[in-house]
Amino acid sequence: MTSGWPATLQYGSVALRPLAYRDARAWRAVRRRNAAWLMPWDATVPPGGNERPATFRTLVSRLNRHARQGHGMPFAIDVDGQFAGQVTVNNIQRGSAQFASIGYWLDRDVAGRGVMPTAVALVIDHCFRSAGLHRIEVCIRPENSNSLRVMEKLGIREIGYAPKFLHIDGAWRDHRIFAITVEECPEGMLARLSLPSHE
Ligand SMILES: CC(C)(COP(=O)(O)OP(=O)(O)OC[C@H]1O[C@@H](n2cnc3c(N)ncnc32)[C@H](O)[C@@H]1OP(=O)(O)O)[C@@H](O)C(=O)NCCC(=O)NCCS
Repeated sequence: MTSGWPATLQYGSVALRPLAYRDARAWRAVRRRNAAWLMPWDATVPPGGNERPATFRTLVSRLNRHARQGHGMPFAIDVDGQFAGQVTVNNIQRGSAQFASIGYWLDRDVAGRGVMPTAVALVIDHCFRSAGLHRIEVCIRPENSNSLRVMEKLGIREIGYAPKFLHIDGAWRDHRIFAITVEECPEGMLARLSLPSHE
């Protein structure tokens, strides 16, 4: 099992917890309602790939297996107690790397309220403080101005460019690469956001 997992994290109305089979109905409803909003940024199966697009059950099963093997942390995001999206810690590497990457998506109904900057800050703080990781990476398509804005708000540095990096929305897509190390944020990521205080 991943060190630091399972975990629940919260700030104000934004709560993170392990994605579970019981989220099936809410997950499917949110994904259906947001199909056009999410499609340009969703991973797809490359030509010749033998996996099928994941159903919710196969997704949770795969993510749980990765978590058991210590490779990932699949968080669900609840906003005011309602399922609203995911932040997934992927590709956890131990040894001399202590590295992971994260991916995320959100229901458009709650977009624009700073939910994802808060969720990503909570997850990175957890990765550094409880899971013992040293460096976190986020890869974003150059066209995804909303997601680039999340990096800007969190002050995460751009470190490179990966041509044809991931198969997204039916083609190999270039990505801009952002990364942060634990040394760069001794104050913690949540403290970087100008947030109202919540007891
Ligand atoms: C990227 C994403 C996670 C941002 O989450 P969020 O909680 O809305 O983040 P913020 O509230 O900080 O908003 C970021 C920017 O998105 C834009 N935005 C917010 N709500 C929007 C909406 N309903 N429609 C269009 N743009 C919107 C704004 O430009 C905002 O910047 P601002 O706060 O300076 O105005 C969310 O837009 C999303 O899930 N998009 C689809 C999936 C995706 O892109 N995943 C990431 C792949 S790398």
